[in-house]
Amino acid sequence: MPLSDCRQIDLPKIMDQRGNLTFVEGQNHIPFDIKRVYYLYDVPGGSDRGEHAHRNLHQFMICMSGSFDLLLKDGTDEKRFHLNRSYYGIYICPMMWRYLDNFSSGAVCMVLASAPYDEADYIRDWEQFQLEAKAL
Ligand code: TYD
Repeated sequence: MPLSDCRQIDLPKIMDQRGNLTFVEGQNHIPFDIKRVYYLYDVPGGSDRGEHAHRNLHQFMICMSGSFDLLLKDGTDEKRFHLNRSYYGIYICPMMWRYLDNFSSGAVCMVLASAPYDEADYIRDWEQFQLEAKAL
């Protein structure tokens, strides 16, 4: 899938004086069924995460609090996103190298994923990723 498929998706926002509400439905707001949710929190300042790709996994990343940057690379081109609101997220299609940095203090990154955890789906080596990306 091309890098252009990776994009910001704005989610429904129910505005209320008591506090706003946002929701996500798999196959409706995002183009896959949600099989797993995980989140990054207590990220120390200056830390970075990611530095890998997934062969088959689809993900949707939301910044629940604070802010951080997401860099996506397909082996040729790259796209950078700044996440700082919980009413939108970034859809990450399979075979995208991702790198997360610039975490603010208190940042929380939530990820909705299309499959349970599977280490065999990871590509953790940049050279290997480039080889597999070229062969697509
Ligand atoms: P990893 O995906 O490498 O983290 P990040 O992309 O945020 O830098 O995962 C870190 C560790 O957590 C690794 O040992 C695998 C483990 N892990 C699970 O056991 N289950 C999960 O759902 C995830 C996302 C990670």
